[in-house]
Amino acid sequence: MADKTLVTWHEHRVQRARGCVVWFTGLSGSGKSTLANHIDFQLNEMKAPSFLLDGDNVRHGLNASPELLEPDYGSPFAERFGLSFAADDRSENIRRIGCVADLFCSAGLITLTAFVSPYRKDRQLVRDTVLRSGGEGDFVEVFVDTPLEICESRDPKGLYQKARAGEITGFTGIDDPYEPPEHPEVHLSSGSESVEESAGQVIEYLKNLGKLG
Ligand code: ADX
Repeated sequence: MADKTLVTWHEHRVQRARGCVVWFTGLSGSGKSTLANHIDFQLNEMKAPSFLLDGDNVRHGLNASPELLEPDYGSPFAERFGLSFAADDRSENIRRIGCVADLFCSAGLITLTAFVSPYRKDRQLVRDTVLRSGGEGDFVEVFVDTPLEICESRDPKGLYQKARAGEITGFTGIDDPYEPPEHPEVHLSSGSESVEESAGQVIEYLKNLGKLG
């Protein structure tokens, strides 16, 4: 078959021990970022190399919105490459960050990601990417299963209130779907567990996986 890409994969001489990707998924306000941040801190204390990629932060840079890109790059560019919360843009958000997480994993880091990542297909594609590069155990999906009512009552950024008032459309859990994982490696009912308890479960899982020395 003719090569459609016109680019060629180069094998690297340096072989490193891979880290893994710990993929937190759940509604906005479910506690993903808080939990991932806590685990990142604990791993750091344990001298385990880790890095945290957080949805809100990544959307300030690599996956910035058209509005953020427009002043420096102009409208056509910003519209083409900026990411909104439309379904395709969320897929591209997750695809890009899945590739970044895979690179960090191949650099030997325990890579923690905290994205709503609402669509099952997108999470599956990232899982496939990471497992293709590495092997079994390199992708750990953590479902932060906090019920909508709790997320909405927390509403740390006031976004649920805006979504209910119709000021934001396409908000996950309100008028955009969240497709829960069917077989997550770790399932946390963080509405009822403390951050410390939930973090303990994830750390324990990583220990059993042999990712913590
Ligand atoms: S994802 O759906 O593409 O995975 P991501 O994790 O990057 O989302 O960003 C989610 C964060 O953006 C939420 O925590 C929330 O603060 C904010 N946000 C703004 N608009 C929306 C929306 N329509 N749906 C969900 N989150 C939104």
